[in-house]
Amino acid sequence: MGNQISLLIHNSPGTEVITTSDSHIKNYEHGAASFLSRVQFREIDHKDGALNLDSIKSVYEKSKVHKPQIKTIAQENTHLASGGSIVSYNHLAEVYSFAKEIGINIHIDGARLWHAILGEGSTTNYGNISDSLTFCFSKALGAPIGSMLLGSKEFITEAREYRKILGGGMRQVGVIASMADKALDLRERILEDHQKAKDIFDFICEKQEFDGFFKAEYKNTNMIFLKFSDGANSQNFINNLEKEGVLSGLINDKTVRLVFHKDVSTDDMVHVKEKIYSSSLI
Ligand SMILES: Cc1ncc(COP(=O)(O)O)c(C=O)c1O
Repeated sequence: MGNQISLLIHNSPGTEVITTSDSHIKNYEHGAASFLSRVQFREIDHKDGALNLDSIKSVYEKSKVHKPQIKTIAQENTHLASGGSIVSYNHLAEVYSFAKEIGINIHIDGARLWHAILGEGSTTNYGNISDSLTFCFSKALGAPIGSMLLGSKEFITEAREYRKILGGGMRQVGVIASMADKALDLRERILEDHQKAKDIFDFICEKQEFDGFFKAEYKNTNMIFLKFSDGANSQNFINNLEKEGVLSGLINDKTVRLVFHKDVSTDDMVHVKEKIYSSSLI
């Protein structure tokens, strides 16, 4: 809802939102952008989630006469489809500076933004490089529920109106807020999850036996993507792990995602290593 409210405020019907072909705001929000804001997406090439600034400039030039007006750039950070990769603050600052030159808005879908902030050393101020930003309490931060939308005072006043219109106004949210507050206080713990993912990734890289079974990718946050050569192998692998009490998921037919979080203990890590190893031998 935070992403969609941002588009409702930044855009008018028939205008465009620049994003990547594989972003959440475009693919996983049930067509809400076309239904609610009545906008379309303009896909831009990217490297590990970082939108190519030259491509943005070129798309902007071409949009002046025959193409719809671009109103917003929606940037996901971290970028899920690229394995949870961090889009650097400096890159986002460059994109923001261009966006301000031409008068368009930057929305950051930061569902997992705390991985990026802490991963980059915690000195960044996203308020300086975005017009709106969402982040989840229920992913990286580990609270059971909740997401937050941030923006200027005027933006939030308007956002509250849309929240009501969309049926998102809630009373008695103090209970949810208290869990979110606690999760935020403990945010530094996210770095332990990065370490857990790195630990398993190193284990996989060291074990020659995995060669040819899958290719592992790790992008410095809390996920590992295991890329299989065919869909049956990836599904078998997930099923075998599940029998051993290790839950993982498919990100697409041939790619398994392992996500590390606060409830994966040191003992669990030993168990996970053993079971990944035995599941890959079958
Ligand atoms: C990149 C990204 N953006 C936004 C969301 C939406 O999160 P929520 O509905 O929990 O606010 C998700 C959830 O999976 C996500 O992965």
